[in-house]
Amino acid sequence: MTIYDRILTEKEFVHQNDLQYPFEERGLQFGDGIYEVIRVYQGNYYLIDEHVDRLYRSADAVKINVPYTKDQMYHYLDQLLKVNEVKSDAKVYLQITRGSAPRDHTFPLDTSANLYAYVKDLPRATDWMRDGVSAISHPDVRWDWCYIKSLNLLPNVLAKQEAKEQGSFEAILHKDGEVTECSSSNAYLVRNGKVYTHPARKNILHGCVRIAVEAFCKKEGIEFVEEAFRIEDIEYADELFLTSSTAEVMPITKVDERTIGDGTPGKITRTLQKCYEEDAKISAEQSLFKHV
Ligand SMILES: Cc1ncc(COP(=O)(O)O)c(C=O)c1O
Repeated sequence: MTIYDRILTEKEFVHQNDLQYPFEERGLQFGDGIYEVIRVYQGNYYLIDEHVDRLYRSADAVKINVPYTKDQMYHYLDQLLKVNEVKSDAKVYLQITRGSAPRDHTFPLDTSANLYAYVKDLPRATDWMRDGVSAISHPDVRWDWCYIKSLNLLPNVLAKQEAKEQGSFEAILHKDGEVTECSSSNAYLVRNGKVYTHPARKNILHGCVRIAVEAFCKKEGIEFVEEAFRIEDIEYADELFLTSSTAEVMPITKVDERTIGDGTPGKITRTLQKCYEEDAKISAEQSLFKHV
């Protein structure tokens, strides 16, 4: 395991143990901030434009003024990998809070945002991707603005913990019977050769891998239907899968006590996994070329 101990904070890189924030930090006290988790393959970012765009969309939605332009953000993110000499498969966690200020629900307009980012090794979960994982169904009790990647993750944390305690990988969330997404990934159902997923409305996170999966479907001639499926539709699913930057395209072979299809990852899921791998490889080659 590689140790990456240089953390990006406010344009500077500090050693992990030297990082300190004041107690009255709005991220700590109110969860008043936003974040991104970005995949890195062999030292190169994957879907970086989608993540940076979403970061600024989230910031706008909660009135956080990101004190850097997008170009500066790309530069600092690049530097984070360079100063830590990252060559492996990893993930970058980037967090921007509204800043430090005396505790009050209203925020002083002149507070400057706090930013930090770190990188951590993250090998691909190839065994799970090959064999599939199990999930539980769980009520979605989150707020209506889940398109904002906010630090307020308590309902997601509790749902994922419940899944873990039941020996499962994920919690499939449903509201009024409709499957919205999972606790930390997007959810998809395959039926008669078509891929169904919840529309990218305000009540789900618009996943960066979801954008890629839509493009893969188009390329492969697979119909991508932005239509929410119901929790009871899972009984008739040919395949189920989830996507996220850390889990990639992950087959779900069991939900609660119900086996999906024949209990092994399905053909369309496999095709999309292959597309993902090829795309990540091409993207890494292109960014290597960019640095020449
Ligand atoms: C609630 C939720 N939905 C979906 C996703 C997938 O997003 P992405 O594909 O951008 O990683 C995540 C990722 O963290 C998430 O937390």
